[in-house]
Amino acid sequence: MAAAMAAYTESLSVDSRMVAEDIWGSQAHAIMLCRQGIISAEDLRHILTWLERARADHESGAFQLKPELEDVHMNVERYVTEGAGAVFGGRLHTARSRNDQVLTDCRLYVRARLMETEQALVGLARTMLGRAAEHIETVMPGYTHSQHAQPITVGFWATAHVSAWLRDLRRLRAAYEIVNLCPLGACAVAGTDLPIDRALTAELMGFGSVQDHALDVTSSRDFLVESLSALTMVMVGLSRLSEELVWWSSHEFRMVELDDAYTSGSSIMPQKKNPDCAELTRGKAGRVIGDLMALLTVTKSVSFGYSRDLQEDKPPVWAAFDQTLGALATLTGAVGTLRVKAERMRALVDGNFAVATQLANWLVAAHGVPFRHAHEIVGSLVGTLSRAERTFADTSTVLAALGEAGIATDAATVADVLDPLAGVRRQTSQGGPSPAEVTRMIAALGAGVDAAEQDVAHRAAEVDAARERLRGEVAAAVD
Ligand code: ARG
Repeated sequence: MAAAMAAYTESLSVDSRMVAEDIWGSQAHAIMLCRQGIISAEDLRHILTWLERARADHESGAFQLKPELEDVHMNVERYVTEGAGAVFGGRLHTARSRNDQVLTDCRLYVRARLMETEQALVGLARTMLGRAAEHIETVMPGYTHSQHAQPITVGFWATAHVSAWLRDLRRLRAAYEIVNLCPLGACAVAGTDLPIDRALTAELMGFGSVQDHALDVTSSRDFLVESLSALTMVMVGLSRLSEELVWWSSHEFRMVELDDAYTSGSSIMPQKKNPDCAELTRGKAGRVIGDLMALLTVTKSVSFGYSRDLQEDKPPVWAAFDQTLGALATLTGAVGTLRVKAERMRALVDGNFAVATQLANWLVAAHGVPFRHAHEIVGSLVGTLSRAERTFADTSTVLAALGEAGIATDAATVADVLDPLAGVRRQTSQGGPSPAEVTRMIAALGAGVDAAEQDVAHRAAEVDAARERLRGEVAAAVD
């Protein structure tokens, strides 16, 4: 191979992340070959001895990967052949191709990172629920069109994000289901005429089941698309949270303040405290969306049967996992330490007309005014007050306008109707911001988060059990 060609086509720089997975897959494969009488117990003993050494060397950092060997598969196999000799080592690659091998490694790797992502998202959701519980009565403006709409609470806002993250957790879980299938034994494209046992290798790696069809196995990358798509949704959600944090921490809003640990200064402006964690999350979400497009574009023209194009599947997936896990870790810290400026939020609500709907609804409920007419009465009152640069705090103007509309009432009643916290407390419709509903939703969302966490823990235990079982088989064969 020409030097330029070798440098251009190598994949070690990308698949060196999968050394442990390549060894695991090789151990399972060798055990199966022996069980099926394809290699001898003596062959197996030599192969496993050197695979175990490779594992120990990898764990201690002593396994030196050789770039000239192109990929992780050749590196692991060469380690075994050099140690065990060509007669024994040369039997490891029986009834296997790098086409099913790379997919085996990749599925093992992605499976672990999906669980890691789920755990990280569970952590963020827990943190946000904690913040919600602190602020079920902290009034803030609820926005539509970036304009004050109706009063809500910080607890209501925080639980909205958690509510969306529970769907992200479901998407990650669904991707796991598609990832956790065993491709090994599909070989290059058409299986093999040797008597392999695909169920056994699947079991030794803790896969949910065998991915059956050899041609489909070696051709498909949709398990990566599904995973990356779930990551993209997570990042889009985090980007929207970040957008809120960026604006709300500005001097114009001053509704929240990020802890110093999650901001950065400026090299020239001594006063600066920049919300970089949030800005970078918006930026990195753009990259992850790009990663998803890159992966889809890489796969879209590959006819069935492995083509080398498919080697380009991994870089966008690795990048997306790295960025998403980084965003989750950083934003968990930022959210957990966020200072909520309750007085400022309340002042913003009081300085504008977010409670207008409360007044209109009171005309409906207490005075039988048709809603459209109530809307007109309050709309015209808001017009009068804002032209005079006043707010609903101008009780005499409010009482006068209501009197003109034939509504007899008093200052105390109007004050209660227009109180934002009292108003929020009355928003008791299902899923609304009343403290009672938010308390209920915190409990329901918390139960969802707990269930997701238990589900990940259960799957992680299954994977660990498979790894332990394989360790036992290896130890028995090597002795
Ligand atoms: N590095 C390759 C990949 O990531 C592994 C499979 C190579 N197969 C081959 N026939 N060259 O896709």
